Amino acid sequence: METDVKFAFAPQKRIHHILSELDAKRKQRGGQMAVNEYVKVWNARKWLKEAEPFLKVWHAYLGYSLNLFSYFKSGATVVDVADKHGLKPELLSRWVEVGVAVGHLRESKGGKIKTKPKMGKYLTKESKHSVGILLEELFELHMPTLLSYREQLPNKEQDPPPEMADMVAGTSSLLEALAVPKIAAVIKKRKAESVLDVGCGYGGYVKRLAHTFPGTQFDGIEVDHDVCVSARKNNVNENATIIEGDFFHFQGKRPYDVLMFNNILYYFSTETRVEMFKRAAAQLATDGVLIVISPITDGKHGKRFASAFNSFMSAHKKMHPLPSKKELVKASKQAHFRLLSAKTIVKEGGWHFLLFEQRGKH
Ligand SMILES: C[S@@+](CC[C@H](N)C(=O)[O-])C[C@H]1O[C@@H](n2cnc3c(N)ncnc32)[C@H](O)[C@@H]1O
Repeated sequence: METDVKFAFAPQKRIHHILSELDAKRKQRGGQMAVNEYVKVWNARKWLKEAEPFLKVWHAYLGYSLNLFSYFKSGATVVDVADKHGLKPELLSRWVEVGVAVGHLRESKGGKIKTKPKMGKYLTKESKHSVGILLEELFELHMPTLLSYREQLPNKEQDPPPEMADMVAGTSSLLEALAVPKIAAVIKKRKAESVLDVGCGYGGYVKRLAHTFPGTQFDGIEVDHDVCVSARKNNVNENATIIEGDFFHFQGKRPYDVLMFNNILYYFSTETRVEMFKRAAAQLATDGVLIVISPITDGKHGKRFASAFNSFMSAHKKMHPLPSKKELVKASKQAHFRLLSAKTIVKEGGWHFLLFEQRGKH
């Protein structure tokens, strides 16, 4: 088609104009294809292009999940890798072709395939820089749940949600590096002697902070048994304790100076969040503060992510929609808190760091 390149990049109005002209010429020449047909083709191409970035993510997910980037790290042929690791050669060849096309792999003259260094660093299981669990969560938890809208939206029964405690605890911890300095600043300023991390997951925050503040006691409470076992293994500092249990049945041995709700609010409904704030108030010392780390829906940035995350939360039986800052301020007021500050942690994700102090306890 001689007009291919023009169609791919021109705005739609202009395309209509070009097509009308073409159509007129074509009709003069006795051609058959009408304007509407071209527009249809143009739209088909447009949507295909929209979907193209997905290929990269799919390739990266598989490469991480099946450890394929690792197998090709030092360069190997498809046949050798398939043979050594018991993989289907034909499917592995297809994955390799995509990898070369999207720039995750390169092919040497001898026919060997090699993983690009960045993929090896960030998307292999053995690398300490790996972020692959994020892709596993996306493909194994979020996407199946988003696809379930097809069944759920017309009121049909919902499949049981995929198990998620382990995965979600792992991916939330990726935020730690950005959030810890903000938490540390609060602990330092308040000269906190005790901190409670509610829903501590793998205990990454407890671990990092306990190391930085050896004179402060850090307690983490976690309801999921397996996650709790990992958190304990992870936390060997003397000033760190991981408690297995439900925050709603928890009574601390001491009033805490700082209490944290990090990436946990979406486990609870709006009404229950009010109860959480009340429980936090009951566990805090007179001048104690509450830190909340969460994506929020009414932030200035990150609307796309927040709306996608919210679609996931709403479709997942065990989850609840993300809070808005407005809702949190309202809920916190009912527990006699006031918002001291709200800072963005990850702009694109809408993640915020909110600091609350108790009103009237001073
Ligand atoms: C998304 S993870 C966040 C982990 C960690 N706070 C972080 O930000 O990386 C939430 C954790 O809260 C735990 N959780 C949920 N409800 C809880 C409850 N009622 N009491 C204690 N932990 C709870 C979940 O099992 C999960 O490990």
